[in-house]
Amino acid sequence: MHDKDVVFTARPGGRMQGDIRVPGDKSISHRSVMLGSLAEGVTEVSGFLQAEDCLATMAAFRAMGVEIEGPTEGRLRIHGVGLHGLKPPAAPLDLGNSGTSMRLLSGLLAGQTFDVTLTGDSSLVRRPMRRVTEPLRAMGARIDTTEAGTAPLHIAGGSRLKGIDYAMPVASAQVKSCLLLAGLYAEGKTCVTEPAPTRDHTERMLAGFGYPVARDGNRVCIQSGGKLSATRIDVPADISSAAFFMIGAAISPGSDVFLRHVGINPTRTGVIEILREMGADIEILDPREVGGEPVADLRIRYRELRGIRIPEHTVPLAIDEFPALFIAAACATGETVLTGAEELRVKESDRIQAMADGLTTLGIDARPTPDGMVIRGGSFRGGAVDSRGDHRVAMSFSIAALRAPIPIEIHDCANVATSFPNFVELARTLGLDIEVS
Ligand code: S3P
Repeated sequence: MHDKDVVFTARPGGRMQGDIRVPGDKSISHRSVMLGSLAEGVTEVSGFLQAEDCLATMAAFRAMGVEIEGPTEGRLRIHGVGLHGLKPPAAPLDLGNSGTSMRLLSGLLAGQTFDVTLTGDSSLVRRPMRRVTEPLRAMGARIDTTEAGTAPLHIAGGSRLKGIDYAMPVASAQVKSCLLLAGLYAEGKTCVTEPAPTRDHTERMLAGFGYPVARDGNRVCIQSGGKLSATRIDVPADISSAAFFMIGAAISPGSDVFLRHVGINPTRTGVIEILREMGADIEILDPREVGGEPVADLRIRYRELRGIRIPEHTVPLAIDEFPALFIAAACATGETVLTGAEELRVKESDRIQAMADGLTTLGIDARPTPDGMVIRGGSFRGGAVDSRGDHRVAMSFSIAALRAPIPIEIHDCANVATSFPNFVELARTLGLDIEVS
């Protein structure tokens, strides 16, 4: 929890130029700690994201008796305790702002022998948790939430879980991962069917730890009774962090940005597909595979964007990038229409409302709908906007300043540290003028 209002003042003018590597992928970093802790042997991680969300996951496993060395310059050595080696924590596990930590841990912990309570900050305790507690209960877990179905989650130990065959009502990688992790402890086979493809880092990483996961179309299954063997993990740069600079470059004339070693897992590249459809100039260079995850360098140069109707199949593939994509839409010619994205309302903030309000303050015609937004491209005026404590909203309005006539002041930015602690520093390297107060 942050008490002080951290304000970003982003100054106009300028373009983005340079060659950088953004920090490690948040989703993969979380999973590296979780699976490394449950493995047998020492897992070495490089490129780990040293941001508050992933540090919360790390602290949780330390509190359950796992020895973790680091992080030092993105390196961790995790002394795995095996699937049955976790110890009861002395206190509730505080997961801060991190929905991924809470939802994945709820599954991983539902099959342990000890009781545990999961809690978090004022944003996390408002987010929906029934999407995980309901299927976990169907597996035999005993989990209590508040009346509203929110955290704190009280998980009772000693439940015997049974595998289920679950069709997810929402396309959520967190729910899928939660159930696969519970499936490690459940009798028989646990299967999850997704309504649309979502990020598959859990499945890939389980395979990397030598634990087979079977996929048949949109259904994935895991069988209990196996073990995880320690491995090495090289975490690629986070495409969700790269997206701010991709869009910064795409909207500011004269820009030319090179982003190194970015994860381009096809379940994460919706932002590239959407921007290209808007006319953006994005090159994918030297595509390669690192530890089971596709990686490439990206070069983005300014080119005028046009408004589009965003294809609904890209929504889960770009789910974290919409705040920044709304800025791209505000700078494009014509109208951009997003539908099928009601999930944005239950992220770290209600991202549809937070972005529509900020864009309106900045003089853009942005009309929120229950499941998306209609944005007419225009010109920003300066002004003060509220990020609502949402890291991605804060960073999105920062890059908007590239196209504003006077500075944009963004309030409540402390949570940028949850996913991208050196955002301001890297943004400055590329030419964005941001002051922090
Ligand atoms: C994540 C999945 C996504 C995403 C979140 C990270 C993950 O959430 O928004 O930032 O690491 O599994 P949902 O799966 O709930 O859509």
